[in-house]
Amino acid sequence: MTATLRRAAVDDLAALKALEREGFGAHVPQEGMADELTRTWARVYVVDDAGRGVVAYITVWRVADEVEVIQVATRPDARREGHARALMLRAFEEARRDGAVRALLEVRPLNVSAVTLYRSLGFVELARRERYYDDGEDALVMELRFA
Ligand SMILES: CC(C)(COP(=O)(O)OP(=O)(O)OC[C@H]1O[C@@H](n2cnc3c(N)ncnc32)[C@H](O)[C@@H]1OP(=O)(O)O)[C@@H](O)C(=O)NCCC(=O)NCCS
Repeated sequence: MTATLRRAAVDDLAALKALEREGFGAHVPQEGMADELTRTWARVYVVDDAGRGVVAYITVWRVADEVEVIQVATRPDARREGHARALMLRAFEEARRDGAVRALLEVRPLNVSAVTLYRSLGFVELARRERYYDDGEDALVMELRFA
């Protein structure tokens, strides 16, 4: 099957909301997906698989010379196929081309899949924010320097 990695469009909104629910369940972030598609500082990319539709997405914010990962998720039946890694690399490559010097993100320390993915890309732990999430869980702040 052929998969395309592209910028998200308004037509992807329903698929993105479904992926967001599958990926985050009760922890769906406050930021609305529809807003992300219109914010000038946000970039949303998707993996669109010819047979399965939109199977993964990433939302990043470009702030000054940084790119911040807001969300990344892959549909459960399409995980471990390299989609999240490909999305991150694409988002970072474009941000870097536009002058970004580092990527930042927050992640739940118990989210082993995500932490392993980020470490595999070279992210290192910068800090720990205590009780960062609504449910009281801490966040790890991780950084990837491009230069
Ligand atoms: C985290 C998540 C986005 C990874 O998506 P994915 O498309 O399956 O990731 P990839 O296939 O690109 O994985 C790349 C690497 O990440 C690591 N990884 C991914 N899932 C893993 C798991 N379950 N266990 C251990 N390592 C894992 C591995 O190093 C993997 O490389 P490998 O498959 O060659 O070993 C996905 O599990 C998900 O949607 N989770 C729910 C939403 C979420 O928690 N998002 C992150 C917080 S914003």
